[in-house]
Amino acid sequence: MYIKKILLKNYRNIDNTYLDLNPNLNIFIGNNGQGKTNLLEAVYLIATTESHRTNRDSELIQWDEDSALVQLKLIKTDYDLTISYKIEGRDKKIKINKNPLEKISDLVGNLNVILFSPEDLKIVKGSPSNRRKFLDLEISQVNPYYYHLLKEYNHILKQRNNLLKKMYNKKNRDLNLLEVWDDKLTDKGSKIIYKRFQVLNKLKILARLAQRKLTSGNENLNIKYDSTLKVSKKNEKEEIKNIFLNTLKKEREKEFERGYTLSGPHRDDLLLKINEINVRKYGSQGQQRTVALALKLAELEFMKSESGEYPVLLLDDVFSELDKNRRNTLLSIINERIQTLITTTDSKDINKLLKKNNNNIYNVKDGVIEKR
Ligand SMILES: Nc1ncnc2c1ncn2[C@@H]1O[C@H](COP(=O)(O)OP(=O)(O)O)[C@@H](O)[C@H]1O
Ligand SMILES: [Mg+2]
Repeated sequence: MYIKKILLKNYRNIDNTYLDLNPNLNIFIGNNGQGKTNLLEAVYLIATTESHRTNRDSELIQWDEDSALVQLKLIKTDYDLTISYKIEGRDKKIKINKNPLEKISDLVGNLNVILFSPEDLKIVKGSPSNRRKFLDLEISQVNPYYYHLLKEYNHILKQRNNLLKKMYNKKNRDLNLLEVWDDKLTDKGSKIIYKRFQVLNKLKILARLAQRKLTSGNENLNIKYDSTLKVSKKNEKEEIKNIFLNTLKKEREKEFERGYTLSGPHRDDLLLKINEINVRKYGSQGQQRTVALALKLAELEFMKSESGEYPVLLLDDVFSELDKNRRNTLLSIINERIQTLITTTDSKDINKLLKKNNNNIYNVKDGVIEKR
């Protein structure tokens, strides 16, 4: 798939911009603070319904304006579609081919993107929530049902946690009521874990291949699902549900004390190892960067294998930071097959790209994006 056109109105520091993108490479050059990431963020928003930088939509509206609009025309193998996303105060209105969407979450799965940014290192080094987000976002884009499942799970989790807090006082304990919530939570939760195991099985093979490619065969990456429950990839959904239910029962008293749900997919993690060594704890900076890149490359191939189409790549300020080997690996993958939007502050950086590919180059200055 590729983005043919983008229209932005009052999106952050970009007033009114219309771009006719190249199906292959699009390079955005500008100093810091000019609006390059803002543009990529707008594309990311259409893919995921969320900004990668804030969860307050109102921040996306240009200061002193009431609304912001992102509209794009997407070309897929079999069909085209136009998506429009308008943020007005606290409201958002999304249309696909002029038809309003009832649920915002129905947007996910139309445009698939993978964003590479310096923040990716967090997937390796950061807290478990970063790794869960990485996996969840990946699955959601190729399986919108999973995205709904996550939303439902989080909703149930919140209600259950509220109930636990109320039941702190022994007199208020209604165990029958809690069990109703246990059932709902474990029903959705077991489906989430089951799906994560399935996807991870494929993803870890792709990541392993990418890591080998990036290190000339020297490093073996291994990814393991590190659950708060005693589950394994061999378990069926029903078994996972039972294990989850039993764990909740066992942890009752602790949960009343703490006032939240201690185990479940919302607290699970991924364990990343190179040659059997925990990368998060003991990996060198270079290894950690390579793993972050390998995970992203795996994501890319996974999306292609699941949806039949490559996603759109967004490379935000990362190209200049890659060494020659990683850069070439990335380029050999893009290789005129994948639409890519690259931002950089340094135009020298991209000279190498220009010889090989057909591309559009844009200057970005003070929110104005102009084709060279
Ligand atoms: N809601 C907004 N309205 C207007 N300008 C904004 C808004 N949010 C951020 N900006 C401006 O956008 C600029 C940052 O743009 P960004 O795309 O992150 O820069 P870069 O080109 O370095 O990637 C800053 O100058 C910031 O002041
Ligand atoms: Mg930026």
